[in-house]
Amino acid sequence: ATTLGAAAAGVGRYFGTAVPAGKLGDAQYAGILDREFTMITPENEMKWDTTEPSRNHFNFGPADQIVSHANAHNQRMRGHTLVWHSQLPGWVSGINDANTLRSVMDNHITTEVTHYRGKIYAWDVVNEAFADDGSGQLRSSVFRNVLGTGFVEEAFRTAHAADPAAKLCYNDYSIEDWNSAKTQGVYKLVRDFKSRGVPIDCVGFQSHFGNGGPPSNFRTTLSNFAALGVDVQLTELDIASAPPTAYANTVKDCMSVSRCAGITVWGIRDSDSWRSGESPLLFDRNGNKKPAYNAVLTAL
Ligand code: G3I
Repeated sequence: ATTLGAAAAGVGRYFGTAVPAGKLGDAQYAGILDREFTMITPENEMKWDTTEPSRNHFNFGPADQIVSHANAHNQRMRGHTLVWHSQLPGWVSGINDANTLRSVMDNHITTEVTHYRGKIYAWDVVNEAFADDGSGQLRSSVFRNVLGTGFVEEAFRTAHAADPAAKLCYNDYSIEDWNSAKTQGVYKLVRDFKSRGVPIDCVGFQSHFGNGGPPSNFRTTLSNFAALGVDVQLTELDIASAPPTAYANTVKDCMSVSRCAGITVWGIRDSDSWRSGESPLLFDRNGNKKPAYNAVLTAL
């Protein structure tokens, strides 16, 4: 195969990228997008601050642009993200009454998931809910602090009711190393959900790596989660300075686990990246393939 998407399809996976609506009109950008990628994640357009900037006033315009582009080019969509402490409008983070916040959260999830019913392969239902402090517990947020830890389960049950066919993922960063308290916290949550029949289908490993690439036990982490009965996905891959070997190792880790459904890189050209100073992507700012691109293509 001569493209990332075709090579991934050849081994039963997808290859995706994050896309901002504002770049769809850039011909060079769209040319690479439609040639190489079979899955799209809106970079910001499905987040709460864009989709519900004030209570019960929904704005799906920017995300709809991306979904129609995907439909026109045979690309599938990952929905990102329904419940996150960041890019959360102040009218939500200021709620201190549990009944109000529960009804606001449920209405947000139901309205957004219903709007896109049948069009989303997988939703990041809850994003980055675990703490980085070594506790393995949920981080402080308006959701945990006002609703308690049960907000995660509530969010998954509500999303499932609105689109029973969409896969529902928990998504986080720094959960790639099996020997980290954060990874163990997420693992226990997924194990608990599966044992009690709470609807969860997948775990997203963001995979924002330093120039060494993934931890050596990343494939152990992926296979241990898969053994719980969920798909695993690499959802936001980028690697500082993009060493070809680091990218190849990451792809091989996914390929070693049959339930690793696909890989999404967090942007196309280095100039499109949220960490553009580190040149972490597969294409340079002129849209040329970097050595890491060929390493990925070979490893798929
Ligand atoms: O839209 C406004 C624009 O109106 C304003 O003029 C401009 C000035 O700063 O800001 C624009 O908003 C920015 C937005 O991206 C759209 O470009 C925000 O400031 C900026 O904070 C935001 O950054 C995004 C970041 O999430 C926010 O947390 C990045 O693009 C996006 O790549 C990044 O993605 C996250 C994932 O969602 C979750 N995992 C981590 C990942 C990287 O941080």
